[in-house]
Amino acid sequence: MTNRYLTGNYAPVDRELTESDLPVKGHIPRELEGRYLRNGPNPVEAPEPSTHHWFTGDGMVHGVRLRDGRAEWYRNRWVRSAQVAAALGEPIRPGPVHAEMDFAANTNVIGHAGRTLALVEAGPRPYELSYDLETIGPSDFDGSLDGGYSAHPKRDPVSGELHALSYFWGWGDRVRYTVTGTDGRVRRAVDVEVGGPVSIHDLSLTERYAVIYDLPVVFDMGAAAAGAAFPYRWDASYEARVGLLPRDGAGSDVRWFEIEPCYVFHALNAYDDGEEVVLDVVRHRRMFDTNVLGSDEGRPTLERWRVNIPAGKVIEERLDDRGQEFPRVDERVVGRPYRYGYTAAFVDEGNALIKHDLASGTSEIRRLPGNDGGSEAVFVPRVEDSAEDDGWMLSIVYDPVRDASDLLVLNAADFTGEPAAVVELPQRVPYGFHGNWIPD
Ligand SMILES: [Fe+2]
Repeated sequence: MTNRYLTGNYAPVDRELTESDLPVKGHIPRELEGRYLRNGPNPVEAPEPSTHHWFTGDGMVHGVRLRDGRAEWYRNRWVRSAQVAAALGEPIRPGPVHAEMDFAANTNVIGHAGRTLALVEAGPRPYELSYDLETIGPSDFDGSLDGGYSAHPKRDPVSGELHALSYFWGWGDRVRYTVTGTDGRVRRAVDVEVGGPVSIHDLSLTERYAVIYDLPVVFDMGAAAAGAAFPYRWDASYEARVGLLPRDGAGSDVRWFEIEPCYVFHALNAYDDGEEVVLDVVRHRRMFDTNVLGSDEGRPTLERWRVNIPAGKVIEERLDDRGQEFPRVDERVVGRPYRYGYTAAFVDEGNALIKHDLASGTSEIRRLPGNDGGSEAVFVPRVEDSAEDDGWMLSIVYDPVRDASDLLVLNAADFTGEPAAVVELPQRVPYGFHGNWIPD
């Protein structure tokens, strides 16, 4: 049996490389000084194709360091969980593992408070990496993180603090909202009662609220007991709702609003608008219902939900019918009214990136090689106080001709034009999940 997540550019790579002074077409903007890092699943040992789930592969972080208009280095490193370290014949990195859930975090990688952190959800703790992507060990944020974390913290652009929503089946019907300070320590943790042992991938943040997506994908004890690699399933009987938790409120202060059943992995952005809260999300009609791999369950679409607080209602509107995911914004507009959003798309049977102008309701498409998977694009402002959309988009793109990947550097304001630079990486970067630009 073949498994699409083990073939083509989903297939894992089997080598860790360190290459310096990479070939570049065009000119890398001199303002870009730092690392573009991206995480994704890359099983260290060949999995059984009939049961392998994409979400459960060991994390591998790929990084490109840019400086002085040069691509100084590329390197890729597995995150050394105990199992990965053993497979590579290395000693275990000691550290605070939560609930014996030692997992090579595979979903996101961020910089915060001077640390580089590989992130995953559902119980395991983050793994801390060195600047050069070597594994330091599991992290509990200096003893301040009780339990696991999230793959999708949102940074408040004014305070610089990380807001996250964590879940773990062992917490029963509770999820946890945390605020992590600029010192890297959790300063606030609030437990919230939800409808069951739910899987919540992302949260939205506004200036007033943390937004909780309590949707019908829940932990299935039967599947877990039967040894399923991925034990979360669609539950048609589960009430789909979004919750507004005041950022300084208690768990009992959440107001819930019923919505049409669906699933949301990723929120594009959100903001307060008078008595309404605007939530822009990528909506999946179903998830892990007919297909536990999560594919073939309908096109994910870009939607705007207006939560009317006094009326207790949510008005759902579709912004874009095309299949798309991995939504990103300029991080300086998180939680605030904004204009531009960027998604990875599947359009006319090909890979693409879409830039949305939400003020004018228009969009631009940049087509990419291949037709089997996409890559997130990350916005980097040109300078600290440049306007929204004045900057670059970074994305790792697979080139089937070279059978290797490129780091694409686009001028965001010239989204479909000639790239500012294309950095040729020395190998494939398998389709994966999320990345970030971490300036030095
Ligand atoms: Fe994600």
